[in-house]
Order: sequence, then structure tokens, then C-alpha cells
Amino acid sequence: MLSALVRNNTKRLVTSQSKTFIRNGHIIAVHRDTKENNTEIPFEYTPENQKRAEVIIKKYPPQYKKGACMPLLDLAQRQIGFTSISAMNHVAKLLDMPPMRVYEVATFYTMYQRKPVGKYHVQVCTTTPCQLCNSDQVIETVMERLNLKPGEVSADGIFSLEEVECLGACSNAPMLQINDDFYEDLKTKEEVLKILDGFAAGKPPKAGSSRRESCEPFTGPKTLTEEPLDVKSVTRSDL
Ligand code: FES
Repeated sequence: MLSALVRNNTKRLVTSQSKTFIRNGHIIAVHRDTKENNTEIPFEYTPENQKRAEVIIKKYPPQYKKGACMPLLDLAQRQIGFTSISAMNHVAKLLDMPPMRVYEVATFYTMYQRKPVGKYHVQVCTTTPCQLCNSDQVIETVMERLNLKPGEVSADGIFSLEEVECLGACSNAPMLQINDDFYEDLKTKEEVLKILDGFAAGKPPKAGSSRRESCEPFTGPKTLTEEPLDVKSVTRSDL
């Protein structure tokens, strides 16, 4: 039984490996100047974001303020839609870091878009747990519906597509992320199409899984089924 399972999964892995998509993570480590992303285009936080940046930096001891690198890059990306070379240089300056250290962070995590993306950025996870749950079907459905390959942006700028590594929702595989939201347990093509159609119509569907509340078994929760303990009943009232 186990050997049959392993054999089947191995067969699927081998089959899937023949489908090669361009993984942005491999090509984005190199910066090439473009008209929308070059060091001649200045970057500054807006006054509101500058205040947010100062609050973030204060969370870290002065000698470790480089710990603020990731949230500051995220803040910059939310401001201009992607993590430009000028934004990275600005973060490096703010945190007294060599720019290369900031580039290393921005090229490691797929959450940082190093070139402009669509209004709705679709990221499909194809790492092993999702792949074993048929993420091939998910990404092929997305490619077909949006007429995009990974790394591309639609002509109207509404959608862009990226193939990414594990997004941390393996227990609800296969899944995809659109902007900040996760869509999980995508077992059928129809479920994927419904999500994309919702975004195309400007009505993003509810995020999460349509099959279960969280990541409990499909047959219902087996643990933590009682009302949680009232903490006040076991702690001092003056705490
Ligand atoms: S493998 Fe897809 S979310 Fe972890």
C-alpha cells in the first residue's frame, strides 16, 4: 500500500518536472535598468509612510535597526506597487546598511516584486505538498484563464502571474495567493475559475477555504472541541 503510494507520487513528480515554468526567483536576482525601474527615479516615503517607517525602526534597538529591513521594503512596495532599486537604496540608507545586504533580502523572498505587477498579483504555490495535491491543475487553469505565463502581466495591467515556493498553507494545499489573500483547498478547475472571475468582475471572493473553517480535518474538528478555558478563572484578578 505504502510502496504503491510512493510509486504513484514519484510518478506524478517525474511527470510534473517535465512542465517547466519560468521561475521569477531565478531570474530576478539580476537587476537590469528599465524605464520604470532605475536609479534615476527617486524614491521617498510619503509623509504618512515616513511616520510609519519611524515607528517600525523604533521597534528595534539602534544597533539592530537593520531588523526593520523587511517591513520597510514591504512599506515601500505598498506605496509604489513594487520594490524598485531606488526603494531598496532608500531603505539601505535609512538603516545604515550596505545596499547589497538589502538586495539580498529583496531577491530571496518572492513577496518582494522587483518589477511592476498587475492590480491583482496571482501567486501559485507549486512546492511539493501543493504539487502532490495537483497544483499543476491550478497553475494551468490560471494560465489558460488569464492567458498569461508566470512572470507576465496582462496588457490591461489587471492581472499578473507568478509561480512561487511554499506560502505556508500546506495543510490546505493546493492554494494560491492574490495580493494579500490566500485561496485554499482548490481541488477543482471550477473553484479556481470562480475566484479569477470574481476578481475580473471587481468583486474579490471571500478568502480562505470554501470547504472548511480553517485547517481542521474535512470530517470536522477532532481536538479543541470544548469551549476554551476562561483564563480569568485560573489567574489572579489583579493581573
Ligand atoms: S507547499 Fe504550497 S503552501 Fe506549502
